[in-house]
Amino acid sequence: MGGRFYITTAIDYVNATPHIGHAYEKVLADVLARYHRLAGEEVFFLTGTDEHGQNIAHAAAQAGEDVKAFVDRNAAAFQQLCRDLNLSNDDFIRTTDRVRHWPAVQEIWRRVAAAGDLYKKHYRALYCVQCEAFVTLSELVDGRCPRHLTEPQVVEEENYFFRLSRYREALRRLFEERPDFVIPESRFAEMWQLVDTLEDVSVSRPVEKLSWGIPVPDDPSHVIYVWFDALTNYISAIGFGQDAERFRTWWPAHHLIGKDINRFHSLLWPAMLLSAGLEPPRQVLVHGFLTLEGQKISKTLGNVIDPMAVARELADRSGAELEVCVDAVRYFLLREVPFGQDGDFSRAQLVGRFNADLANDYGNLLNRTLPLVERFFQGVLPEPGPEEGGDGELRRQAEGTAEAVWECVRRYDFQRALAVIWQLLGAANRYLDREAPWAAYRAGRRERAGTVLMNALEALRVATILLEPVLPAATLRVWSQLGHPEYEERARQVRQQGEVDRGTGLRLEDARRWRWLRPGTRVRPARPIFPRVEDGTPPQVQEGTVQDTLSLEEFRKLDLRVGRVVEARRVPNTDRLIELRVDLGTEVRPIVTGLVPHYQPEELVGKTIVVVANLEPRRVRGVESRGMLLAAEWDGQLALVTLDRDLPPGARVS
Ligand code: ME8
Ligand code: MG
Repeated sequence: MGGRFYITTAIDYVNATPHIGHAYEKVLADVLARYHRLAGEEVFFLTGTDEHGQNIAHAAAQAGEDVKAFVDRNAAAFQQLCRDLNLSNDDFIRTTDRVRHWPAVQEIWRRVAAAGDLYKKHYRALYCVQCEAFVTLSELVDGRCPRHLTEPQVVEEENYFFRLSRYREALRRLFEERPDFVIPESRFAEMWQLVDTLEDVSVSRPVEKLSWGIPVPDDPSHVIYVWFDALTNYISAIGFGQDAERFRTWWPAHHLIGKDINRFHSLLWPAMLLSAGLEPPRQVLVHGFLTLEGQKISKTLGNVIDPMAVARELADRSGAELEVCVDAVRYFLLREVPFGQDGDFSRAQLVGRFNADLANDYGNLLNRTLPLVERFFQGVLPEPGPEEGGDGELRRQAEGTAEAVWECVRRYDFQRALAVIWQLLGAANRYLDREAPWAAYRAGRRERAGTVLMNALEALRVATILLEPVLPAATLRVWSQLGHPEYEERARQVRQQGEVDRGTGLRLEDARRWRWLRPGTRVRPARPIFPRVEDGTPPQVQEGTVQDTLSLEEFRKLDLRVGRVVEARRVPNTDRLIELRVDLGTEVRPIVTGLVPHYQPEELVGKTIVVVANLEPRRVRGVESRGMLLAAEWDGQLALVTLDRDLPPGARVS
């Protein structure tokens, strides 16, 4: 409990629209912010836009637009991205903000000047506009910037210089004292390499070459270099130079950034702060780069897709709500890309994770349990009985999960954190299979059936609390089905008022507890939150689906018979299929049917059902099937047509 956590993202250049790399960074920061809130810490989560510099002035000119109008429009796109990704940011800072940002930049400039760390110099050098940084001849590859493959400009002018070389020793000391100053270690090692060779850097541009920036205090012939300006966002947003109390509350920060801008954050920025008599950042967290379907994301390749387009595509293919699909993208990014390493964003992998992890393991656990609570207990959570069988084991695993997840998050190992949650979900699914509440119920052990269902739901509930930082929208839907619609209602209201929703307010403490769900609560099974994406094959004619109008004659051709299920088992390596042996009086037929998650094989045995008996045999996933079952479907729920009086198998249905 307690503690404060200040987390920032890089502020994005507004010369182009957001892509999946930007989304990745924001999601990472949001997940961190939400986990720290879950742990009971006070959190300040900052993001924003970087709106000055040559690159942006140039992009606006190319677009034939007034620069201010251009940056306003593009900054709005980044603000929209924050809402679309369901970010819980506490602030959004823009470097064109003359009230909040400019005074802080001018203040830090004055302090650095007062420390004797600024001087004017005439010089000539190579400048990469895309990097917004000087490059040396030795860095170039075939005369081009290795990052952007563009030719640098020759710049010859008089600039202010920052005495970065003076901070070699101080930075070395900082690095020695703080073995976790830059994460991961490999990125820290790169910074160590550079410390000894740090040279002074230009921190202004003459206004006649570039007017789009913040004026140097007391020298209107220069504007402040865009990185000096941009880095200061991290303190301007928390009131540096204007609100000392607020600044003290939050500084120093954890900076989350991409690997291409590490040296600005781990070398230049701490040196600027030290020069100004301020504390260096708490930690620099460096994430890797994403490729898209294996390719570098770049405008020239034309693959700069809007991250929301991916979510919309998933929504179209699965039928899930858009917000849930955004959650799936968030989940994918954290689960698939090890923090600190490069990763690839692939739509096929996204669908794979959606189906396997979200639909099957998580969604299914809900869809397997709630309908049984509905059927056996009229939709009201039952009072659990004494612990037996596998109950204790499941409880102990659930009780330990919160701590294990939090440990992983503190090490920025999100992959492992999610794996730990999925171990619990897997254990709960296996527990249900083994403890078979449907069998207990049929055997007249109603209390035992209730205990098993409650335990499975408790494990699901623990997982749901721990998943909230990653799946902030989907977990609200789960809460509603678990009988707690208040979280979803509140979130909707908050967003309707145009405000940012920062979550349910549930805590790690809640996830450590067992027996948290209250017997007597009315649950609300509803349509699946994560409806599966069916693979490329066209949808099959499903039981219960009326395809076309039939004439009376055609209808009479259907041979409908009473059948009794004698055996049922899951078809291996499929998600929905059950293979039945159905007694039709004269023969026992194999019928393959997609009934999971609505039914489990165990509860089908002994049921009297209605079979369409005169269909051509077909093979489903290599298994022979001769016939179909009649079923009713409503709002995602499915029920088999059964008889309300016992008739022998083979009886004709008309
Ligand atoms: O660098 N994968 O802005 P920016 C992952 N304005 N992350 C990526 C990425 C990719 N393919 N492409 C970019 C700037 N990023 C400056 C920052 S901070 C004081 C100023 C990351 O819009 C990149 O590493 O070029 C950076 O952290 C962020 O997106 C913004 O990049
Ligand atoms: Mg960039």
